[in-house]
Amino acid sequence: MSTLMKVSGLKVAYGHIEAVKGIDFELREGEITTLVGSNGAGKSTTLLALSGLVKKNGGSIVFDGEDLGKLSPHKIVQRGVVQVAEGRAILTTMTVRENLELGAYTRKDRSAVGADLEHVFHLFPRLKERLDGMAGNLSGGEQQMLAIGRALMAKPRLLLLDEPSMGLAPIIVQEIFRILREINREGLTIFLVEQNVRQALKIAQRAYVLENGSIALSGSGQELLKDDRLVEAYLGG
Ligand SMILES: Nc1ncnc2c1ncn2[C@@H]1O[C@H](COP(=O)(O)OP(=O)(O)OP(=O)(O)O)[C@@H](O)[C@H]1O
Ligand SMILES: [Mg+2]
Repeated sequence: MSTLMKVSGLKVAYGHIEAVKGIDFELREGEITTLVGSNGAGKSTTLLALSGLVKKNGGSIVFDGEDLGKLSPHKIVQRGVVQVAEGRAILTTMTVRENLELGAYTRKDRSAVGADLEHVFHLFPRLKERLDGMAGNLSGGEQQMLAIGRALMAKPRLLLLDEPSMGLAPIIVQEIFRILREINREGLTIFLVEQNVRQALKIAQRAYVLENGSIALSGSGQELLKDDRLVEAYLGG
């Protein structure tokens, strides 16, 4: 598998707080890579740096051979690096359809938008049923599905997700992970940040453990599921 994104020496600070302390990782084309770690480890900060939403203090982010460092968040989305809105920040007073259409607004290939909408309905039949309803009336799980659907409408080459399982019932979490697997099988590269370590490692080909702004462990998802240090720290022994 070829490298789609290579991150080297990434540093991010908030004032005096060094949230990310010079980390290296790579995302391979067609794989699910996960970044796991506890509260405050720097996971969200790392994702925000990839999207250009926080300024990095050092290091480089190279996507498909291009340094993203100088690009605006808007341009980064146009390159195909698309983050699912955190906390499912969907627009609750707009309809499901309007939310999905908004996802496509940065695209130039307008003619393909209809087909992609159909694909989102195939993945999430529930959204099609609720198409003209207000997004705010959806359940938490449906809102997360809408947030993912909206990101897919931007035609990502790399999908970034920040804790998509947060606050959802276990059965809905299973469904979200099943769909992530499905869209990955269709060829989409995924970078998944999770506190739900076990679930994330199960679906990830490659995994990194972030502790206090540094990468503490890395390996395949299957390797880390068996790693004593990780089991002790994150999987309750
Ligand atoms: N806007 C901010 N201003 C100042 N400090 C921040 C800001 N955002 C995050 N931090 C700090 O940076 C560190 C990393 O936070 P970050 O949100 O990236 O961690 P996280 O791994 O995503 O945690 P969580 O699991 O709670 O989402 C923490 O010490 C946090 O308090
Ligand atoms: Mg976070």
